[in-house]
Amino acid sequence: MPEGTLYERLGEREGIRAVVDDFYDRLIADEQLGPFFADADMELLRRTQTDFLCEAAGGPETYDAVPVREAHIDVPFEPTHIERAIELLEASLDAFDVPADDAAAVVDAVAAYEAELLASPDEEV
Ligand code: HEM
Repeated sequence: MPEGTLYERLGEREGIRAVVDDFYDRLIADEQLGPFFADADMELLRRTQTDFLCEAAGGPETYDAVPVREAHIDVPFEPTHIERAIELLEASLDAFDVPADDAAAVVDAVAAYEAELLASPDEEV
């Protein structure tokens, strides 16, 4: 039985930030996804993604940025882009030797927002 909360096992904010930094390094370097970040404020994205994952893992942080749907409404993602991002997140979690069950919980926290990430402005609701 693993000890502590997911947040603690991931190394709290510092450990989660390290995974997020590695993840965004991979996103920027990726042939398919890198171009989406050409004009992005990467420091803001790294911080807000860290807040998001800290909160999802049971930490004291609160994600206080723009709602995920709104933040990506003008980004023309296709499902394949989200799949690629998940692969890169898995690679980062693996690079930090996060055990499979904990890695799956982190991936699920992001994957749960797939519909919000894929939303486009011309859709209803
Ligand atoms: C579910 C977790 C995620 C959260 C909480 C999140 C959060 C954010 C936030 C706060 C912004 C900035 C909005 C603003 O301009 O103020 C943003 C932009 C963006 N995110 Fe995410 N994001 C998530 C997942 C993803 C994933 C999986 C990708 C896939 C590659 C992605 C790619 C982008 C891109 C390309 C931008 C636009 C950058 C720009 O042009 O400024 N995000 N995200």
